[in-house]
Amino acid sequence: MTRTSGLAMRAGMILAFATLLVAQALAAAPGKAGIASADPRATAAGYEVLQAGGNAFDAAVAVSAALGVVEPQSSGMGGGSFFLLYIAAEDRYVFVDAREIAPAAATRDMYLDEDGNANTRASLNGPLAAGIPGHPAGLAHVTDRYGKLSLAQNLEPAIRLAENGYTPSVRTLLGLRMRRRTAEAWPAFGDVFYPGDEMLEESDLVRQPDLATTLRRFAADGVDGFYRGETARLLVEGTRAAGGIWTLADLEQYKVVEREPVRATYRDMRVISAPPPSSGGIAIANMLNILAGYDIARLDGATRKHVLVEAMRRAYRDRALYLGDPDFVSVPGDRLMHPHYAAGQRASIRLDKATASVSLPGIWPAGAEARQTTHFSVLDADGNRVAVTQTINGWFGAGFMPPGTGVILNNEMDDFAIAPGVPNGFDLLGGFANAVAPGKRPLSSMSPTFLESDRGIAILGTPGGSRIITMVLRSSLAWYEGASAADMVALKRFHHQFYPDRVNYEPGAFTDEEIPGLTERGHQLRESRRAFGNMNVVTWDFDGNVVEAASDPRGLGEGRVY
Ligand code: DON
Repeated sequence: MTRTSGLAMRAGMILAFATLLVAQALAAAPGKAGIASADPRATAAGYEVLQAGGNAFDAAVAVSAALGVVEPQSSGMGGGSFFLLYIAAEDRYVFVDAREIAPAAATRDMYLDEDGNANTRASLNGPLAAGIPGHPAGLAHVTDRYGKLSLAQNLEPAIRLAENGYTPSVRTLLGLRMRRRTAEAWPAFGDVFYPGDEMLEESDLVRQPDLATTLRRFAADGVDGFYRGETARLLVEGTRAAGGIWTLADLEQYKVVEREPVRATYRDMRVISAPPPSSGGIAIANMLNILAGYDIARLDGATRKHVLVEAMRRAYRDRALYLGDPDFVSVPGDRLMHPHYAAGQRASIRLDKATASVSLPGIWPAGAEARQTTHFSVLDADGNRVAVTQTINGWFGAGFMPPGTGVILNNEMDDFAIAPGVPNGFDLLGGFANAVAPGKRPLSSMSPTFLESDRGIAILGTPGGSRIITMVLRSSLAWYEGASAADMVALKRFHHQFYPDRVNYEPGAFTDEEIPGLTERGHQLRESRRAFGNMNVVTWDFDGNVVEAASDPRGLGEGRVY
């Protein structure tokens, strides 16, 4: 080796090391923030808190609480949520499970009549449909444990919106049209959302003084300000007076659970996603394992989409059979996410023919559709990340508000399998693993997710009930193949969930060639009249340090980089 080449080598090594350090520093801190949520007023609430010195976790609480006000049809204090966090300073991931739980007086057969017939109305409408809310406890937990500001500071934008009023979005108005009949039965809800028994208009100002008071008590006293005291009393009295079964003890005993997120890999992409009681992470990991056995980028369009559908079919079969609240049933997650298991599933996939769902052992039925929920994504300048999906389940949840609280209760009890083989509001099936039991969390599809690779980071998720998982899967694959945040939210969607045995798709999801390529294989295709989901994504590309925030063109949201 000559002296010059030795020096050049050393200089090269120093440069490489310096580049690595810069890359690592970059990986830790983008120096700018991105927020994408389903409503510009909520995105602005997050920014307000960032400007006040808050971190991504504070901003997430502000966005979350504001969404609960301006998107009353989708989520809020009466619902539940999953917060997926990445704490940059500790290089640590946490999943905060603030899912609703069944009240202590809930029983496995509570939605069956004397003849054993399912009464799905009771699991969808009114106080019996409502699980004990977890969302407020989640907001307090995330603020106290991970935030820099106080709960009162983080709730301030939401309180202002509830107190001063906000104009209802077209989505809120659509939800109100759908919920009118239910609301007639429960006047407190109607008083706010159908004033004078009239439909609201876009120019109206919706003021929610009761909700503002509830939020203020919560801001002042934290968890105790919702789960005990005056708010708890009003919630319990209101539900019981309308035929519900909640008790003060149910509220007092509610606990947030921190869980290890699910981790999976797809080639050199790392996926961090929601563990049970979400079915999302396990199903996504399983589908990616199945797909990793194909060179899907090289398959023609129809074959590629066929293989995707077959992976979906198999993952949703397992969802119905095995998944439920891990605090109640043993969930065979390691097995379902094992590459050998996926290899076994792959062996039953033919490239030329659809597998009929009935030919796979599973849980079998008896049918409904799109509900409400919301997802948002946050990245702060220090590299902290948050992905949150939060819900009250159906449009305006149970359509029921305990008087004096301003809180719309969820109808998350419908996410349980109310009887084996009785499809829920999303046509999802389930059995013992997801049967109702006191204190149990209903199985969810909400899948807040992080993606990581040498390229950078993506923070994503969406509402959409059973379709959440397949939307997150497809946008994850798209990111792996180079898609931007805007591409990911705009991607045309298709979905299969084992039962019913058909592929639902948005116009444009399949090309003119792909449609016959799929039908000839035996797939039943059904074009959906309704758009799928409302995805919100923040991405950070290391190359050029580019942060992007994108909100689904199907919705009314806003992604911004600050
Ligand atoms: O937790 C779940 O899976 C459902 N409650 C989510 C509902 C939903 O995403 C409705 N969206 N349109």
